[in-house]
Amino acid sequence: MSLGRILIVDDEPNILKSLSRALSLEGYEIDTAESGETALEKAGKQDYDLIMLDVRMPAGISGIEVLRHVKQRSPEQLLVMMSGHSTIETAVEATRLGAHDFLEKPLSTEKILLTLQNALKFKKLQDENASLRNQLDPDYVIIGESPVMTELMAKIAKTAPSNGRAFITGENGTGKELVARMLHFKSLRRDRPFIKLNCAAVPTDLIESELFGHERGSFTGAFRSRKGKFELAHRGTLFLDEIGDMRLEMQSKLLRVLQEGELERVGSSETIRVDVRVIAATNKNIEQELRHGRFREDLYYRLNVVPFLVPPLRLRVGDIPLLALHFLKVAQRENVKKGLRLMDDALEELCRHRWPGNVRELRNIIERLVILSGEPDIRAEHVRAVLPDSDLSPAEHGATSVGPLKECVRQFERQMILRTLRREGWKIAQTARNLGLERSHLYKKMRAYEIRKPTLEDGHGDS
Ligand SMILES: Nc1ncnc2c1ncn2[C@@H]1O[C@H](COP(=O)(O)OP(=O)(O)OP(=O)(O)O)[C@@H](O)[C@H]1O
Ligand SMILES: [Mg+2]
Repeated sequence: MSLGRILIVDDEPNILKSLSRALSLEGYEIDTAESGETALEKAGKQDYDLIMLDVRMPAGISGIEVLRHVKQRSPEQLLVMMSGHSTIETAVEATRLGAHDFLEKPLSTEKILLTLQNALKFKKLQDENASLRNQLDPDYVIIGESPVMTELMAKIAKTAPSNGRAFITGENGTGKELVARMLHFKSLRRDRPFIKLNCAAVPTDLIESELFGHERGSFTGAFRSRKGKFELAHRGTLFLDEIGDMRLEMQSKLLRVLQEGELERVGSSETIRVDVRVIAATNKNIEQELRHGRFREDLYYRLNVVPFLVPPLRLRVGDIPLLALHFLKVAQRENVKKGLRLMDDALEELCRHRWPGNVRELRNIIERLVILSGEPDIRAEHVRAVLPDSDLSPAEHGATSVGPLKECVRQFERQMILRTLRREGWKIAQTARNLGLERSHLYKKMRAYEIRKPTLEDGHGDS
């Protein structure tokens, strides 16, 4: 097995030859370039664990320029500079630009080997740290023990190690991105990049260059060449989020890359081969998009090798307490708080809510509770006070719509009372004071509007 892939860049053929021989014998896999231009071209197409770069190459662009370009394109690339006539200034400049080390010519094999070993050890540590961080990051843990989630996790475990494409659907905030990340981190590609592109967030005229990259000057504003997400995800995973929002024209171009495994940057005719696992997600009803001809069927079949449907939170109510307690921990850490407890009645209240925004909404609510909490025990009334009115009846939502004035006023009044009661945790005295009413008057209105404190048996109803 090779100790690492190294690109040696020097304009002196003799040095290239002797270095290659020495390093190959030691077990490194060697590639060479006799000019800065060739070096950039090669580095743009292939991965090298390390690049050894001569500072001074009189014929074309200098080593320092190559260093600058490479670092711009891939900041994590490891480079070691070589020089026979270096000044302190060049060394400082190279370090500032991100060179890992500096070798003085004449080169001794011993010194080179030591430098290489150290550099590669550093890179390995860096990679390990990155993957460890990814594995431990609590943001990437999937919580849930309900049957639907257990099934989903089993499917992830089965699918991840394969190179199969996955197509993830589900409502807003159900955890589609989390599933995509899990598929990557449980795969053989886990030490390679996980790159995400939100297809809905990129302006349509820029999406091609975002995906495939571009050459300098290929369009107004393209001041320098740039790798696209496909190239960045080489040997790793590309997560195409909100794929349902991709325009048809772009869908065709994507299809071609998936079929052929190669692409051209915008403004270039040169073909680049990529090895990328694509995972796509959407919250759109994809069958409907297909029926209306807004999504290409052939692309869909390419992408949808393994389908994942992430269930809405209301279909896994049993997971709500687990998730809530998890987010309580996370939110306390993020907001430097300690010792907060979600009491049983608070958990029950959370289980009763319908969660139209799914797990993301639950996460936000818990964070809000943590921030607003004045006492360590979080109770049902605190929960009610921060829950949005998504469970108000449609008539109440329509309070602002036109209708007979009297009816509108009635509905508005009812809504105000209900909201204040919730905010005050159903404490009558406080609510009455807040609304500027006598307590007896408030009771009367509550009776008239049929407002009463909800109990667990009520399910979702609030009045
Ligand atoms: N099962 C889960 N366990 C822990 N955290 C979760 C879980 N599901 C979702 N989350 C958290 O909820 C938030 C929303 O999840 P995510 O972004 O993956 O949803 P999404 O389906 O991609 O949403 P959207 O459709 O809005 O893009 C994230 O902060 C995520 O970490
Ligand atoms: Mg998402």
